[in-house]
Formats: sequence, C-alpha cells, structure tokens
Amino acid sequence: MSIQTTPRRAADVEPLVVMKNVGKSYGNVNALQGVNLEVYPGEVTCVLGDNGAGKSTLIKIMAGLHEHTSGSFEVAGVKRQLASPRAAQALGIATVYQDLALAPLMSVWRNFFMGNEIRKGPFLDSRAMRRIADEELQKMGIQIGDLDRPVGGLSGGQKQCIAIARAIYFGAKVIILDEPTAALGVKQSGVVLKYIAKARDAGLGVVFITHNPHHAYLVGNHFIILKLGRLTLDAHRDELTLDQLTAEMAGGQELDALKHELGDVDPGKTVDPDNPEVQLAGPGKPEVQEEKPQ
Ligand SMILES: Nc1ncnc2c1ncn2[C@@H]1O[C@H](COP(=O)(O)OP(=O)(O)O)[C@@H](O)[C@H]1O
Ligand SMILES: [Mg+2]
Repeated sequence: MSIQTTPRRAADVEPLVVMKNVGKSYGNVNALQGVNLEVYPGEVTCVLGDNGAGKSTLIKIMAGLHEHTSGSFEVAGVKRQLASPRAAQALGIATVYQDLALAPLMSVWRNFFMGNEIRKGPFLDSRAMRRIADEELQKMGIQIGDLDRPVGGLSGGQKQCIAIARAIYFGAKVIILDEPTAALGVKQSGVVLKYIAKARDAGLGVVFITHNPHHAYLVGNHFIILKLGRLTLDAHRDELTLDQLTAEMAGGQELDALKHELGDVDPGKTVDPDNPEVQLAGPGKPEVQEEKPQ
C-alpha cells in the first residue's frame, strides 16, 4: 500500500489550531503537561503514545469536552477555552470517537444527517438526504451499496468512513480521529487510512490518534509522541524514519534495558514446565552449541 503525503507546507500557511504549553490536571493527576501542538490544513498530525499517555485528554481539550488547566489553545489565531463540543463544532472542529456516535438501527443516510436533518416544512426530506449522502459517499469513493441499510450491519471501517465523510460535508476544518484503526484488521485499517489521506487532500487538518507507528507513518506529515502526559518527540516526517518512530514508540532506551535484563533468556529454548530449571533439547536450542566467532 502506498499513500502519498504532501511535501512540507509553504511558509505562509497559517495553522488551524495551536496549543502552547498546554496542561490538564484531574484533581492531583497531571494527565498532560507542557504540550505543544500545531494542526495545519492539508496535513495529518499524528499523536502517538501508549495507554494512559494522555492522548484522549489532549483531543478532549480540542473537542470541547474538557477545558485545559494551563497553557493556551488557539483556533484560527484566537485564544479559546472551549466549554462544550458544540463550541468546538462551531469553530469547525469535528471529532470521530472510537465508539462512534452512530445509531446502529438507523439507515446510513439517516446517520449521515443525524442532528442536521433536512426538512421540507414539518417533514423530513428523506429524498434529498438520501441523494446527498449518496453523492458525498461516492465523492470519497466509499462503497456502501444500499443506503437504507442499518449502520449496525456495516464493518467498523465503513462506519469510520461514514463519520469522516459526514464531518467533511458539514464543514469541518479540523477532524480528530481517536484511534480509528485500533479495533480493525489490516484490510479495513487500510480503507480508513485511505480516507484519512482523502480528508487531508481535501485540505482538512487531520489529527490522527494511534498507537500504531506503521499506520501513522503511512499518512502522517507530523508526529508527536506523548508519554505520561509529556511530549517525548515532536518531528516532521522528513526528520524521522519509520524505524526511528517505531523505536521511539517502543520506548527505545526502556526496550534496551529490558533486552539487557532478558539477556540470559534464550527465546528458542524449551522448558520442562514441571522442572523449569532443566532445559529440554528443542529445535531452537541445539544440544551441542556452536561456538560463536569472536
Ligand atoms: N476523567 C478523568 N479523571 C481522572 N483521571 C483521568 C481522567 N481521564 C483520564 N485520566 C487519567 O489521565 C491520564 C491520561 O489518560 P488518557 O488521556 O485517557 O490517555 P490515553 O488516551 O493516551 O490512553 C491517565 O493517567 C488517566 O488515568
Ligand atoms: Mg485514549
């Protein structure tokens, strides 16, 4: 799979969102500290980090679910403290959560227009909604088939794609995706990554939360890694290889320390569970070991 990324932005492009030194504490838990982040149009900004790193906290600040407790947060050059998801939406910030806000029993087109229904007098204009949903999904190359199908029967990847297409249609400038590929298989992940690239190419600023460096590197222009609420990496694509990103994510030095601790253990050996001190001969452990050349 090859997904093209855009080259570095021109110097005069303004960021859509700027976070400076942002922190968030829940009582005496510091979930985020000193985080800097910029979201540019036509770019994918990847936020990586392990469980508990603060990724969800960061996007909840951008999405208007939580208010930051220190630092500053600007949208289109204006400092903001977002009090609600509606406030974020009004500024063009759309969020696609892992547990999608789609109604499983309702049709694809009803879900597409959920909360933004088109009316004709007192009635829903189902014909117009079905037609527009169809056009918009086709524009993104999303193949659903019958739009009267309930969303509950679609694959996880298809649901993510509907949510992305919906956000773009309703005028989002920034789209935040919270681990959209975490619960998906390889093929479906590929489909979602393709639409992330499409959203980027449509000029949106995409914030892609993931703990998978491979997925991030396929579409990302910029990468930040959070660890225990702090930034441990902040790099543009041309400053970083996939191997470096993977090593940083795996916790480079920690991994080396672990390797050292595990140094005596031969993963190829077979151990008798009743008598773990005695090693059995096995395919991974020849009875007579060859001497390693020095
Ligand atoms: N509502 C909350 N109240 C208290 N602590 C929270 C709350 N939400 C998250 N935390 C804590 O903040 C830290 C970061 O969590 P989170 O942002 O969910 O991380 P991630 O999404 O990277 O897994 C964790 O230590 C978590 O326990
Ligand atoms: Mg999370």
